[in-house]
Amino acid sequence: MATLRLGDTAPDFTVDSSMGMINLYDYLGDSWGILFSHPADFTPVCTTELGTAAKFKDEFDKRNVKMLALSVDSAASHAEWIKDINEVQNTTVNFPILADEDRKVSDLYDMIHPKADSTLTVRSVFIIAPDKTVKLILTYPASTGRNFYELLRVIDSLQLTAYHKVATPANWKNGDNVVVSPAIATADAKKIFTKGVEEIKPYLRMTPQPNL
Ligand code: BEZ
Repeated sequence: MATLRLGDTAPDFTVDSSMGMINLYDYLGDSWGILFSHPADFTPVCTTELGTAAKFKDEFDKRNVKMLALSVDSAASHAEWIKDINEVQNTTVNFPILADEDRKVSDLYDMIHPKADSTLTVRSVFIIAPDKTVKLILTYPASTGRNFYELLRVIDSLQLTAYHKVATPANWKNGDNVVVSPAIATADAKKIFTKGVEEIKPYLRMTPQPNL
């Protein structure tokens, strides 16, 4: 399987999970999706990540993003681990954890990086648009837990830039001014972005976030 790249179609799959059999495309429907892998059940960093993810579910729901976690352990193991996560993170894991025991999904999404670990998945993140194209790929090592604020931030950027001819600058967060797409001439930008366009350089034009 060739490495997945941005713009590729997310491979479909059907696999067991902590909530029963899941088909990716049926599960996502017309929603956005976030698929994130974990090295293994009953590991400390993963326990904090999944508890945090559960606490962020309302924020993903608000953005119409369906969550899917994955590790290469069984659904029965996930069920036991979820009890621990709920207890120690004071939450309820409220989204499926895929049970990728045969590494089918991990191979499809290139989540095993043999020079990091020959059998366990690294911390991959895939954000999938409603048309099933892959919009974001992140890879973290097992030793570094992910920042869920950053995942929400990038979803805000992906959703904004999917519908408006803008891009988001460094450290942008929802509500900040945005960059006018380089493909738009300044004269046209001034007609499109009625809240105003500031031309800092001919190639660097800022405008208030258009969807607020
Ligand atoms: C963890 O989730 O804590 C972890 C998993 C595998 C290797 C190192 C840390």
